[in-house]
Amino acid sequence: MGRLRNKHIILAISGGIAAYKSAELVRLLVKTGAQVQVVMTSGATEFITPLTLQALSGNPVHQHLLNPQAEAGMGHIQLARWADLLVIAPASANVISRLAQGQANDLLTTLCLATHAPVLLAPAMNQAMWHDQATQANVQILIDRGLQMHGPAQGEQACGDVGAGRMLEPNEILTALETQFDQGLLVDKTLVITAGPTREAIDPVRYVSNHSSGKMGYAIAQAARDQGAKVILISGPTQLPIPDGVTFVAVQSAQNMLDASIKAVAAADFFIATAAVADYRPAKVSEQKLKKQNSDHGLTLEMVQNPDILASMVQRFPKAVHIGFAAETEDIIAHAQDKLVRKGVSMIIANDVSKPGIGFNSDNNQVSLVTADDVQKLPLLSKPQLARQLVEAISHISHKA
Ligand SMILES: Cc1cc2nc3c(=O)[nH]c(=O)nc-3n(C[C@H](O)[C@H](O)[C@H](O)COP(=O)(O)O)c2cc1C
Repeated sequence: MGRLRNKHIILAISGGIAAYKSAELVRLLVKTGAQVQVVMTSGATEFITPLTLQALSGNPVHQHLLNPQAEAGMGHIQLARWADLLVIAPASANVISRLAQGQANDLLTTLCLATHAPVLLAPAMNQAMWHDQATQANVQILIDRGLQMHGPAQGEQACGDVGAGRMLEPNEILTALETQFDQGLLVDKTLVITAGPTREAIDPVRYVSNHSSGKMGYAIAQAARDQGAKVILISGPTQLPIPDGVTFVAVQSAQNMLDASIKAVAAADFFIATAAVADYRPAKVSEQKLKKQNSDHGLTLEMVQNPDILASMVQRFPKAVHIGFAAETEDIIAHAQDKLVRKGVSMIIANDVSKPGIGFNSDNNQVSLVTADDVQKLPLLSKPQLARQLVEAISHISHKA
């Protein structure tokens, strides 16, 4: 029993001759202690029977998107959420094409759109189909979106051709799946992550705040935890569930967040500032609820600047690795490089908040990782997918000490 024990794996099988090998993959997965749900395209059922896969996986095989029974409970969304990992083996040229177009015309493709889990493909097809420009362009689109290609291997094919197009062997696919759960990149490391908005009180019932959802910071906390880190998540008020296995510190104002950060970062290896900290707070918090005035003059609030938490951590704890986010609307990279130097941090994760559908409050994000000697632009990814890539990048930044 190894890294896949109790992991939720969706094995999606599409219509290719290599589908017979997927039976062996199910057997290996079950042997490692994984929980396996098999999804088949209608093409796949022409090559291998659902009954075989049901018997091997111990679960009914999912074949239909428009299944009134399963859909009473939004079956496809539940299944997408259930998955820790989705592997398509074999991935036919047809499935690769449908995914590249973002189609959701069967259960397999719909799940791929709906899941936040990593999606791995083990392509298998005739070598000419694999080398065809259309297939290659589709594969590149999927890679750019963060889906992983494993294989194909070279060799003799069922059709008699020799070349690239053979599906990886089941034990090779198993190894690729196990690698996804490598717990080790951040073992013995402590990460402090700030997340969410801050609330700056005006009076006992009112405050100044912003629209930060906290999703990015929470996703990083989970991804770092999965890599074996001890994680302290310092969060302003959000609607998100507290992630399992992290130390959670709830705060309200920027000053609270600063105090909690000082306590936590003293013994930390990494400080990752994702919180949207209010730059200003009301100069004076009224002890009583402010009354509406009977005049036309409105209300003027005097605001004072909040502490810069990231700069303060760099100054107090120079040995930790500090990582900041920069939400910009123009000259993204230039501003990020300037912030990197000005704040003395190791990495700035820069994103363009002027683009719709990314950044603030959305489920997706597209960022560039800016360090002193490199700029790496990542593709548009869901926040959990992005968090996994960020954690990997962060783990490669050596300790400054
Ligand atoms: C005997 C036979 C073998 C096939 N093998 C493959 C294959 O290995 N890879 C592939 O991409 N398509 C293969 N095809 C074509 C697919 O089955 C076909 O494109 C189908 O529409 C795939 O549907 P799906 O991707 O929804 O499962 C094969 C077709 C036949 C008749």
